[in-house]
Amino acid sequence: MPVYTRGLMTDARVGDILVQPDELAHRVRELAQEISRDYAGRDLLLIGVLKGAVFFLSDLMRHLEVDCEVDFMAVSSYGSSTDSSGIVRILKDLDAPIEGRHVLIVEDIVDSGLTLSYLFRMLTGRNPATLEVCALLTKPERREVDLPIRYVGFEIPNRFAIGYGLDHAERFRNLPYVAVLAGENP
Ligand code: PRP
Repeated sequence: MPVYTRGLMTDARVGDILVQPDELAHRVRELAQEISRDYAGRDLLLIGVLKGAVFFLSDLMRHLEVDCEVDFMAVSSYGSSTDSSGIVRILKDLDAPIEGRHVLIVEDIVDSGLTLSYLFRMLTGRNPATLEVCALLTKPERREVDLPIRYVGFEIPNRFAIGYGLDHAERFRNLPYVAVLAGENP
């Protein structure tokens, strides 16, 4: 079984690495350049979906070259810990209205797409000027609903991913790369 070593510590809970830290940093910069070009001259409002997106969002935002603000939503799926049900409860809503704003939803991962599909419909109802999505990771094999994801970092295989914001039972978000949880099926 592949193991991750950091200094003298070995963590057998971490399996294959899917995206290395330097690949993450490079792609985040590329996405930020693309977004900066697309939104030149417009005020941008980033909406981060807690908690996983915080890590990606903060790195992305530091590379943006347009005026931008950030707000957060927290949602909870009624599904099991590893599966979305598509029924989404809002735990924390945005601080301010988005009517007339150029809004970019930032997600760490789109899996079935059910969470994002719900959010997209709900935020569309608040009449933003534009509404787009930026997802660091997608799992195309798991997609259940078709979604317009304007910016995608990486497509990953259908395996349980942890790190760079992604958790298993709230752990591993702090790993500086995206890896597979050892011994887990998707
Ligand atoms: C993850 C991710 C998305 C959702 C994607 O959040 O951040 O919001 O699952 O799954 P879906 O496409 O199948 O709907 P999670 O519920 O794990 O919360 P977290 O960000 O707090 O870890």
